[in-house]
Amino acid sequence: MINTYHTSLPPPPVPPRQGAHRPATGRATPLLWFLSVVMVLQMGVTFGGFVYLFRKSSTISQAAEKVGFLSGSVPFQDSGVVAHMAPESDSGSFTSKTLKWNRAHSLLVKVTYLYTPGALKILIPGEYYVYSQVTFSKMHPKAPLFHSIVSRRSMENKVLLRAYASLNNEKPLTSFQGGVFKLEKDEELSLNVTDTSLVNLEVTSTTFGLFML
Ligand SMILES: *[C@@H]1O[C@H](CO)[C@@H](O)[C@H](O)[C@H]1NC(C)=O
Repeated sequence: MINTYHTSLPPPPVPPRQGAHRPATGRATPLLWFLSVVMVLQMGVTFGGFVYLFRKSSTISQAAEKVGFLSGSVPFQDSGVVAHMAPESDSGSFTSKTLKWNRAHSLLVKVTYLYTPGALKILIPGEYYVYSQVTFSKMHPKAPLFHSIVSRRSMENKVLLRAYASLNNEKPLTSFQGGVFKLEKDEELSLNVTDTSLVNLEVTSTTFGLFML
């Protein structure tokens, strides 16, 4: 009886289970380590991919600048509201006050250019930094040289910023001005000068632009 009691008594499935649980937790730690390493590696690969894409896009924009061709098509597609205008080479052939811009060689993202008044039309209202740079290569016999950023809002014209310049001994002179303005939807901005025939119309010498802050 005692023997059978003893033999029937050791049903030790409980201690082996406890024993089996311990090695299981011991195995779980390397598994956790492995998963952590995989996660870290994957994060590294993702970050590396971002760095690669960022470098690639910046080299594309550098290449576009080297060619001297500013286009809204490739590198600035996902950027904010921005415009940087290249002068129209024949806009000085007729006497006018408003400079015209070459749409194909300009950078325009989420801003429209209206050729007829020669104005940038705001599509998204907000605070903008607006700038203009003009190089004068000739004097005017009577009037002072200036460039004005003119705003047209619901038929009302207003000068936002004006810079005066004076030529010494007929050498070219570059004048730059820029400022922050709150612009409304459909507001039109153009650049008036004393006379467009006095202006040097090289891409790098005369420009007009803006970007949203
Ligand atoms: C800007 O020039 C245009 C002509 O191109 C003229 O009609 C307009 O009055 C000028 N605006 C200002 C504020 O000088």
